Amino acid sequence: MKRTLGTCYYPEHWPQEIWDEDATRMAEAGLTWVRIGEFSWSKLEPSPEELCWDWLDQSIESLGSKGLKVVLGTPTATPPRWMTERHPDMFAVDENGHVRGFGSRRHYCFSHQGYFAESQRITRLMAERYGANPHVAAWQTDNEYGCHDTVVSYSDAAGYAFQTWLQQTFSGDIEALNRAWGNVFWSMEYRSFSEVGLPNLTVTEPNPAHVLAFKRFSSDQAVAFNRAQVDIIKEYSQAPVAHNYMGRVTDFDHFKVGSDLEIASWDSYPLGFLEDRAGATVAEQQKFSRQGDPDFQALHHDLYRAVGRGRWWVMEQQPGPVNWAPYNPSPLPGMVRLWTWEAFAHGAEAVCYFRWRQAPFAQEQLHAGMLRPDSQDAPAIVEARQVAKELQEAQDVQPAQADVAIMFDYDADWAWSTQPHGAGLSYFGLILDYYKALRRAGLTIDILPPDRRDFSGYRMVLVPGMMHVPDDLKTALADCSAEVLLGPRTGARDQHFNMPTTPLPPAFPNFDVTVSRLESFRPDLPRPLVGGGAAIRYQEELESGAEVVLRSEAGAKVAVRSGRLMYCGSWLDAEGMDRLIAIAAEAAGLALRMLPEGVRTRRTATEEFWFNHCAEPVETEVGLIQAAGVVRRPI
Ligand code: GAL
Repeated sequence: MKRTLGTCYYPEHWPQEIWDEDATRMAEAGLTWVRIGEFSWSKLEPSPEELCWDWLDQSIESLGSKGLKVVLGTPTATPPRWMTERHPDMFAVDENGHVRGFGSRRHYCFSHQGYFAESQRITRLMAERYGANPHVAAWQTDNEYGCHDTVVSYSDAAGYAFQTWLQQTFSGDIEALNRAWGNVFWSMEYRSFSEVGLPNLTVTEPNPAHVLAFKRFSSDQAVAFNRAQVDIIKEYSQAPVAHNYMGRVTDFDHFKVGSDLEIASWDSYPLGFLEDRAGATVAEQQKFSRQGDPDFQALHHDLYRAVGRGRWWVMEQQPGPVNWAPYNPSPLPGMVRLWTWEAFAHGAEAVCYFRWRQAPFAQEQLHAGMLRPDSQDAPAIVEARQVAKELQEAQDVQPAQADVAIMFDYDADWAWSTQPHGAGLSYFGLILDYYKALRRAGLTIDILPPDRRDFSGYRMVLVPGMMHVPDDLKTALADCSAEVLLGPRTGARDQHFNMPTTPLPPAFPNFDVTVSRLESFRPDLPRPLVGGGAAIRYQEELESGAEVVLRSEAGAKVAVRSGRLMYCGSWLDAEGMDRLIAIAAEAAGLALRMLPEGVRTRRTATEEFWFNHCAEPVETEVGLIQAAGVVRRPI
């Protein structure tokens, strides 16, 4: 397959006289894809039912005539002002009961039936008009579900829909809900589903089972909203449909949305994420301030490869300083190229830069593009041209199954955030810490969805923190031939957020380990391990007759192993994590090579990529790699 580049373009922002020239320059830069349309509703339908397609017809024609392929976005992330007059109650409501109003984007509630129908209506109009257009080669639904905290809404519409959802989930049996949630506690019992409210504005903590159910419901609403658009597009178009996911947005189950789409894509802003959500320490933020976290993007590449069942893109790639993080530096020269190649090394089919030209108006004036606002080249286009040339000259990337897999479960993230038990305890954070340790050890990783039961081909499978582990998954893990690493909190709750008692967690077949007590503690009070490293933030007391592979200086069993199953009951610091991974890898027969800080590798079927995320050259086993350097080596 030929890997390709693209950009995100807003023809409606620019005079029509420059569209052809823009398209010519895109094609000359070696771009293939141009995503358009996703925020253009007020231009397509300035007033209710008054449709203006001419400009979009011409823009698609202008791009297509230069050989560019269009990704057409449905505009439903930005309903126009008149829409909010037609449906005054369509806004989402936040946890404090405040209405999230008009004037930016994503101002709708997934549960509002009137808006749901409007989203179907505009999608049908667009699909009817462009479904057979030869230049429209892919579609994007909406834009970044969940960004700006927009999945969960406490609106009246959500409240009614939640009651219906519960009624279906519990087959109309309110006593079953009361039992499953433990509502005898604090006299929370209900007599009917119409009595069940939303889990906000309570005096103190709401019932965690109620909260978790509401998160699951909210995710299902996003899935249904997306599916309704996809079903309509499919009636008119053969082109693949994608959605552009975000970094560290976990409020809906991306695997479920992804199962309705051909392609998963995501929006990669490495410098924004470093400041905003990668959980980097101050020292790491300083060291990688112009390069981004060396693992955060890679984790998402692997996650979205799984969400797309192998087919995935970067729909938006940071091209220069962004406008939304606490600090917004320029990428180090070479990083735009490195980020692009790293995505390809992880199997991306396409990488599109956001955005073509920097906008001199409205919210994102301080967000760089491939062109400056005066249409001169910005640094990103120079690096994009270089990648385009390299893509033409180099052999294609041949993706292959990795040796190591981590299971990722959105439901577990909701369970952790429902009752974290201590500051800083998050499922995503735990997965990221494990992922980083695997990458420091030079491993190539696949992410697996939680419904995966076949682990053949993997030497090591990690299932940390998956709160609810169905019995058939426990059996599949216990029976597989990989070394399996579990914990902390793997199997800690049943499906309704109750703690299993007979036996206590984790309760895996033929694995003699029980969590008899657990505690969280301050991150500045680490519990040292014998031989180096420490438990931080969280520790389980393990009762086990199995071999102890990590022990604390205080004598506690930190990790135990029996057969091919290993359980670690603590959150470990980096040194402890490196030791844990080394023990599991040795048992799995995997050779490790500890990489220099900021250097990362990824293996494909035919070669190994090396990336230097540091701002200075680094000596490695494949020689000196320049700052922001990329090396490809046949294997
Ligand atoms: C993304 C979004 C784009 C743009 C970009 C700025 O989240 O999809 O429309 O706002 O961020 O970095």
